[in-house]
Amino acid sequence: MKNPFQYGDVVGGDAFCNRRKEVGDLLRAMENGEKLFVYSERRFGKTSLVRFALDKLPKKQYVSAYVDLWPTDGALSFATVTAKAIAESMSTRAEKIFEIAKSFFGRLSPSMTINDQGRPEVTFGTKRFGEPGPELDEVLEAPRKIAAQGKWRVVVVFDEFQQILEYGSDKVERQLRSIIQTQTDVSYIFLGSRRHLIQEMFLNRSRPLYRAGGHYPLGPIKEKDWLPFIRKRFLDGGKKIDEEQIHSIYRLTEGHPFYTQHLCHVLWDICEKKEPISEDLIESAVRTLLAHESYAYTTLWESLVINQRRFLKGLASEPTGVKPFASDFIQRHGLRSASNAQRAIEYLLERDVIDRDNSSFIIIDRFFKIWIQKTQSG
Ligand SMILES: Nc1ncnc2c1ncn2[C@@H]1O[C@H](COP(=O)(O)OP(=O)(O)O)[C@@H](O)[C@H]1O
Ligand SMILES: [Mg+2]
Repeated sequence: MKNPFQYGDVVGGDAFCNRRKEVGDLLRAMENGEKLFVYSERRFGKTSLVRFALDKLPKKQYVSAYVDLWPTDGALSFATVTAKAIAESMSTRAEKIFEIAKSFFGRLSPSMTINDQGRPEVTFGTKRFGEPGPELDEVLEAPRKIAAQGKWRVVVVFDEFQQILEYGSDKVERQLRSIIQTQTDVSYIFLGSRRHLIQEMFLNRSRPLYRAGGHYPLGPIKEKDWLPFIRKRFLDGGKKIDEEQIHSIYRLTEGHPFYTQHLCHVLWDICEKKEPISEDLIESAVRTLLAHESYAYTTLWESLVINQRRFLKGLASEPTGVKPFASDFIQRHGLRSASNAQRAIEYLLERDVIDRDNSSFIIIDRFFKIWIQKTQSG
């Protein structure tokens, strides 16, 4: 039997655990033409959630474009990727997609080419670099034009939205501000993976997208939702797990979707049929996982200076929500001054090792946190 715990790729259908409230909230936002910023750490389930919600929209009534900004590096690639996603969301036939591309995105010089698999595909022939002018306007106008035809409601999702901060100009951000204000019947959902960047983008008064939409921080999946999900998957494989052990898993991963699935995956692999899952078995699954990551974690640790390590040790050893600028935290962990803590934080945020969590911080990789607890205490 195939391991039922999946981690890494987008999960959907049966492999998607609960999130009923979030799916409902997103659907409502999409139906009402709202603009919403959804953000969380990486691998928290944003892409899975939004795709799950998009799948629930009635196909005949909606044009829903899902745009992954991850591979984009400037305003022109933003325009191209967005145009392609919009055109492809309106048909599955290459000829039709080409027609749509010609009518909405003529400035991007669409053409039909044959891709690696020998299938026809629409590509855009504009130069890849440089500042776009009318091309970007044209692309961003398309959702309004489609909605104005009266046949469909339109939803545009931008995934990995923080990528636009790498573009070297705030042109896209400014353009988006104006379409958000004017396209009242199109819903825009922005997904962001680096919470502190996304928050900065819409809570800082001087940024173009300041309060341009609602904000929706995505939390972990709750223990009561994991419980039936995890239990059923073990049971289907003839393996038994008690509530208490699921609780232990939850404590280790704090409900983080990716790490919960990853730990369960390893546990499922090492657990024999009929053998009830014990704390020892969970412990050995954690050891297996850490052994696997040990090289990467050691390399990362060795690249850090002493105050950064002290800060991480402090964060790993204290309860979540601890205030790292408080003088007792600074004393306890040998940081000596708030400015030392500040510098360590800035570096670790920049390197994506930690992220902001209200007025505290979290270590993004939950297994790295456990590795620090196990190998660096004392
Ligand atoms: N609703 C869910 N149910 C079960 N597992 C989930 C769920 N959402 C996310 N995951 C787990 O987290 C991993 C990362 O999800 P993904 O949607 O790619 O996150 P993000 O887009 O936030 O980086 C998935 O591969 C899966 O293991
Ligand atoms: Mg994603």
